[in-house]
Amino acid sequence: MLGIERSGEQIAEAMRQAAADNEADILEMRQGDVLDPPFRDDEMGQFDVAHARFVLEHIPDPLEVVRNMARAVRPGGRVILSDDDYNGLRLWPEPPGFSSVWNAYQRTYDRHGNDPIVGRRLVQLLHQAGLLPRRNTLVFFGGCAGDPDFEDVVRNIASIVDEAIGDITTTGLSRDAVTAALDALIDWGKSPDSAVWFGMSWAEAVRPV
Ligand SMILES: C[S@@+](CC[C@H](N)C(=O)[O-])C[C@H]1O[C@@H](n2cnc3c(N)ncnc32)[C@H](O)[C@@H]1O
Repeated sequence: MLGIERSGEQIAEAMRQAAADNEADILEMRQGDVLDPPFRDDEMGQFDVAHARFVLEHIPDPLEVVRNMARAVRPGGRVILSDDDYNGLRLWPEPPGFSSVWNAYQRTYDRHGNDPIVGRRLVQLLHQAGLLPRRNTLVFFGGCAGDPDFEDVVRNIASIVDEAIGDITTTGLSRDAVTAALDALIDWGKSPDSAVWFGMSWAEAVRPV
């Protein structure tokens, strides 16, 4: 199995997790850019499966990445994309101030030339890359008060916003408004009627034979 990642830190973490699962000997990580992947010539068109998760949302030209994946797999091989559609997040009853912060978070993607709703484009990207779409689904992340993992779900949403707080304030919201909304979100998560729905988009296609 070959992984491509541009961050040395992420590569070290991937290798650490593989070692913890006794899988280090089946994983090779190469440092590089998915827009110009570090494949050897003899590897092109040889892979059974190419998978990208939470990467396309960081790239202004996701189609170029999917084209590279299409070139990497053998005829009949499979390309699997999973990514976010941030406009699909639902929280109910709505925590005070959260929707304006979440909208501002999505606008930070636009400002970097990235697409906060790339998840809904996955089948289209596969088609545009010359592949044959075969599957489109959602992987559910969410829950409600009373689920053992619900606190983690809410904290994960809060940490996504918290990590982007500098960018969010450039959209016009004040740091105080964002911090207040995050505090309200954490409190909201303790309420017995709070619920979250979020689906990670997942789509698959095959390379024509
Ligand atoms: C949200 S993380 C997802 C990491 C991993 N794929 C996962 O699903 O857990 C996004 C990753 O994409 C990497 N990345 C962003 N742009 C890249 C590029 N052009 N080439 C290679 N890696 C890139 C970042 O370094 C970061 O580790």
